[in-house]
Amino acid sequence: MVISEGVFIVTGGTSGLGWAAAQRLSQCGGHVVIADVRNIETGTLNGQQQFVRTDITDQEAVSQLVQFVEKEYGKLNGVINCAGIPLAERVLGKTGPHSMEDFARVIQVNLIGTFNVIRLAGELIAQSPVQSDGERGVIVNTASIAAFDGQIGQAAYVASKGGIAAMTLPLARELGQKGIRVVAVAPGIFSTPMMETVSDRVRQALENQTVFPKRMGNPKEFAELVRHIIENTMINGEVIRLDGAIRLG
Ligand SMILES: NC(=O)c1ccc[n+]([C@@H]2O[C@H](COP(=O)([O-])OP(=O)(O)OC[C@H]3O[C@@H](n4cnc5c(N)ncnc54)[C@H](O)[C@@H]3O)[C@@H](O)[C@H]2O)c1
Repeated sequence: MVISEGVFIVTGGTSGLGWAAAQRLSQCGGHVVIADVRNIETGTLNGQQQFVRTDITDQEAVSQLVQFVEKEYGKLNGVINCAGIPLAERVLGKTGPHSMEDFARVIQVNLIGTFNVIRLAGELIAQSPVQSDGERGVIVNTASIAAFDGQIGQAAYVASKGGIAAMTLPLARELGQKGIRVVAVAPGIFSTPMMETVSDRVRQALENQTVFPKRMGNPKEFAELVRHIIENTMINGEVIRLDGAIRLG
């Protein structure tokens, strides 16, 4: 996929990994539509970007987002799904068992919301003209290394990210018939506002567990992988860890 010829939706694009991906894609000449529940700061968009306030769990809102893209550009070539929320809660906590509302909310946003965007945006990508290799578009979802080495207190988050990882292959198999690739990135520990919810002690422990480099990832490193995935047509149906070889204990 040639980024400069493409139109891309970036969910969760006002912050962290999504923001970095949106910046990288527009630097490469792509048109980017940022979709987030949180407003973007006035003046932070460049000429290649637009913002549509969207809750990814809301079917009507995502439908309107896709209609906006169709009206504005007449096509869609990719989605970078970065919208997500964290949760740390024990199954058997000090104040009682895990809240079902909390569990459902994390699944609703991270897994069902991501799928909602995939199905509605996928429809427009499938109608868009092909580029070289018969390719119409690329969907990049954000899982987490927690999908594979989940820690105590992360049952809901891990279940949501495990779902993202597990659906990568069946989505790629089906959407490949329309010239659409589906790839997931499983980041390790990245320096974003989401990580600010974690205590300094936990963050330090996570950095220590990273094999090399012994630091958190920079969102630009995530964005660079997203760029490569979009440009390299052979990458498909895979979950790619981006984690400095950390294995959560
Ligand atoms: N930062 C890390 O270390 C890390 C590691 C692994 C995976 N991830 C995943 O990467 C993704 C991005 O995380 P981040 O660190 O950039 O976090 P972040 O909090 O900086 O950004 C997440 C964005 O998603 C948006 N969002 C939340 N709920 C939404 C909804 N219902 N609809 C639309 N937008 C919504 C938020 O407003 C925010 O802008 C998440 O899915 C997260 O689970 C992050």
